[in-house]
Amino acid sequence: MPEPMTDALIEWLKDPEHRALMEEELAATSVPPAPDSNGENRGRVDPRNRLNDMTGAEWVFFLNSLESTCYPTTGPEGYAHRIRRIHPSPKPPQLMARLIRFFTKQGEWVLDPFAGVGGTLLGCSISGRNGVGIELDTRYINAYTEACRETGLAPQTLLAGDARNVKSLVPDSPERYDFVLTDPPYGDLLSRARTGEALKKTGKAEATPFTDSGHDLGNLPREEFLTALQAIIADCRDLLKPRGHCVVFTKDLQPVDGAPNMLHAEIADRLARIPGLSFRGYRIWHDRTPRLYPFGYPYTFVANQLHQFILVFRREG
Ligand SMILES: C[S@@+](CC[C@H](N)C(=O)[O-])C[C@H]1O[C@@H](n2cnc3c(N)ncnc32)[C@H](O)[C@@H]1O
Repeated sequence: MPEPMTDALIEWLKDPEHRALMEEELAATSVPPAPDSNGENRGRVDPRNRLNDMTGAEWVFFLNSLESTCYPTTGPEGYAHRIRRIHPSPKPPQLMARLIRFFTKQGEWVLDPFAGVGGTLLGCSISGRNGVGIELDTRYINAYTEACRETGLAPQTLLAGDARNVKSLVPDSPERYDFVLTDPPYGDLLSRARTGEALKKTGKAEATPFTDSGHDLGNLPREEFLTALQAIIADCRDLLKPRGHCVVFTKDLQPVDGAPNMLHAEIADRLARIPGLSFRGYRIWHDRTPRLYPFGYPYTFVANQLHQFILVFRREG
């Protein structure tokens, strides 16, 4: 007896539109072209699709494991980056909108407990979803408000507070949210003084933490950081609708004394231990905007880290 997932896959393949798409893809043995974003030749949305408003072609396009982007930081497509750049790592709103479009339908609810200057919330406004965010630092909240004013995008709800209190801070009942999309601090990466190549690259030794607050997860030692993040995401799971997804951005740190220091693997492992939350896999975001720096040249290999991990979890039951 085949498993339900296999049945669904067989049905999907039998559909002439999907079949043609698969054959085309196999023939090209490459990523399918981006579906027409003008809405023309979009194909049809499967009536059984309860996750998003995408056609089969749009869905398959999103399944590429690599998202390689070069979003502008000026002009209307910069979404007031000039204002948001007071933050050390603002996310491109268009990137967040792409994830939001895959994991929700029009008008659904998105939660971001580490909202910064509002990459997720701007993504909600671009894609016609409702967003609620939490951020510790009011400077970032003010920058988000200013960015909304400058872009003319509808402001979403951004609350000042500690994500540890997410359940009491966010409006309304449990199981209200369709999607949690968040980009927590990268361990204590930014709160440590720069040394070696990072010092040479920036010319600045001092650390650039997100905030000076003791509540900032980015100021915690690794183990405490992982424990706090696990507890916050467990609370977010309770706020998600059953089968709602939770996407967490993270990046790896440089190896230390030969030890791998793969933060993405540590976070995936910790969050997968949360009861009722399953790990579904990951995608990689490759940001083509930073310049390559000749770390290590001409002596040894030191990687440029131009990518981040997009870890995908789902609430079960
Ligand atoms: C990687 S940044 C998020 C950037 C965001 N994606 C954007 O586009 O601006 C992480 C954010 O989490 C915030 N933060 C750290 N600890 C927090 C906590 N306990 N509660 C709420 N926010 C926190 C930091 O101030 C920082 O702005």
